Amino acid sequence: MFFPKPDIIEDAYIKNYEEVYKYSINNPEDFWSNIAKELLWFKPWKKTFQWQYPYARWFIDGETNIIYNCLDRWLKTDKKNKLALVWIGQNLEVKKYTYQKLNEEICRFANALKSLGIKKGDRVTIYLPKIPEQIISMLACAKIGAIHSVVYSGFSVEALKTRIEDAQAKIVITTNSYPYKDKIINSLEKTIEAIKQSSTIRNVIIVKRVNEKNNNLNLTNVKFYYWDELTIKQDIICSTEIMNANDPLFILYTSGTTGKPKGVVHGHGGYMVGVYATSKFVFDLKENDILFSTADPGWITGHSYMTYGPLLNGITTLIYESVPDYPHPGRWWEIIEKFKPTIFYTTPTAIRALMKYGEEIPSKYDLSSLKILGSVGEPINPSAWIWFYKNIGREKNPPIMDTWWQTETGMHILTPLPSAPLKPGSCFKPFFGIMADVVDEKGKSVGKNKEGYLILKTPWPSILLDLWQNPQKYKETYFEKIKNKTKKFIYFTGDSAKIDDDGYFWIIGRNDDVIKVSGHRLGSAEIESALIANQKVAEAAVIGKPHEIKGESIKAFIILKHGFKPSEELKKELNLNVRMLIGPIASIDEIEFVEKLPKTRSGKIMRRVLKAQELGLPVGDISTLED
Ligand code: WT7
Repeated sequence: MFFPKPDIIEDAYIKNYEEVYKYSINNPEDFWSNIAKELLWFKPWKKTFQWQYPYARWFIDGETNIIYNCLDRWLKTDKKNKLALVWIGQNLEVKKYTYQKLNEEICRFANALKSLGIKKGDRVTIYLPKIPEQIISMLACAKIGAIHSVVYSGFSVEALKTRIEDAQAKIVITTNSYPYKDKIINSLEKTIEAIKQSSTIRNVIIVKRVNEKNNNLNLTNVKFYYWDELTIKQDIICSTEIMNANDPLFILYTSGTTGKPKGVVHGHGGYMVGVYATSKFVFDLKENDILFSTADPGWITGHSYMTYGPLLNGITTLIYESVPDYPHPGRWWEIIEKFKPTIFYTTPTAIRALMKYGEEIPSKYDLSSLKILGSVGEPINPSAWIWFYKNIGREKNPPIMDTWWQTETGMHILTPLPSAPLKPGSCFKPFFGIMADVVDEKGKSVGKNKEGYLILKTPWPSILLDLWQNPQKYKETYFEKIKNKTKKFIYFTGDSAKIDDDGYFWIIGRNDDVIKVSGHRLGSAEIESALIANQKVAEAAVIGKPHEIKGESIKAFIILKHGFKPSEELKKELNLNVRMLIGPIASIDEIEFVEKLPKTRSGKIMRRVLKAQELGLPVGDISTLED
């Protein structure tokens, strides 16, 4: 156990977790409505909460806009001159935005979107790297009630295309090209490729990240605009759309068990309250805090704790464009020394990668500004935890918030608070108002120190509203996996976990066919369909294997079609296929050509059996195995 230093407890909003937790569980609606009252609403809600299987809705009939709370409210105070966003480019070039300046940029771009016919409820796809315009476009959409769908810049043409099509987006925002380490990536070409056959995209807006001549752009039915030319003529005032608490704010695609990514939908009201509260209490945000999150808005952390959470709390968010070890492995520490963030939020995979370079690297920098550290995305192994604590936290011993949550939960669910005693590798206990348990397939608690399915037994404000245009899948994925005749709220997380004697939660990993590579969620079925797209492949099965740095690596088992022979060449070709169809994050580490795959009698590949065999673990129940 690691106990917080007295000054941390002294400073913390929450000094006694257990006490507040007890109150919050006995009075969840009071707890959440009191927090919601710290925020501004155009019209108060009539009812705090409503459960109508399988939908949980919060702040019924309330009216607000997340931007009203992220920007508008601060403009009436001195905070307007405070830094909202500090962006650091790959070569340490800096762009600073006060709340006022950020608001002006958002208004300009919101007006630009309106001039192109974008209105409340329309979907806007944002395919940008980590540059200020990525955040400005998200916030501009929210301001006018359009729904943003950020697509990670590392995703391929195919991945972008399916996401545009599923959302039926009207417009894409992209960049000409951008630096990525020592390469230049051309996003525009990829975007054009993705929208060639689109029936919905009418306009493309191009941010010039790299200075170059305007391209000669030609595509029937689609108009191209350059960001600067479009926004320069726009007004710096734009009214904030009044939104119902349960109107959608964004769609974010994430991988599940099927080949098709799911569009997780979050709304203006509940999402805002959940993200505001967790940012405030988990990172203990005070007026002078600066939060450095290493996420990308292409993922949920970049939405909740790099963009919305910090702005809702009126603090400064610090963004670095590039990766941790470029151009040198001390880059993040250099940034911390120079820009003095108080909170540093990153991933176990990055910590493990940086550990490899040795302690001497961080030891050269002054990291004394750090007050709280955070980890997210996958289980953090105790040795990485301790390295982080000792080498980055140093003598100040800032507590590490190992935050467990998901794209679907929108906010931290299992998480310590700064005043809590910590066990390296455990994500502590549920946040206020939330009850969690570990159960068997019938929904019965498995008891202490036993592995089972992690479920959530009470709703929280920022639970997903739905899966975009797929309510059936929503119900099946989150509310039908565990037998539940009474139709009570039981949310299935897809993770396996254990609870120890002290009530601390330990996450083991996913129990579905989702693989976590460097904290990024990939579906086995998605990767398999990319492999099968190759003419030579008859069948493919993909599993995740433990990996020292990435957490999990991908291994593929391939059956070739008749007449094709395994070769190293072919392995390379298959890997290229996957990179083209999904993106480099889905690169396969190992390929094995086989004659047969373990299947059920109904023909489903039993990846579980492959995995057990590969890792030398017991294969478990194989009564349904065909051969
Ligand atoms: C899955 C959700 C939430 C932001 C990034 C990931 C795993 C997440 C932890 C943690 C152990 C974790 C789970 C979860 N996960 N945080 N602190 N300890 N596992 O969001 O892409 O939706 O992935 O990430 O398996 O289900 P996501």
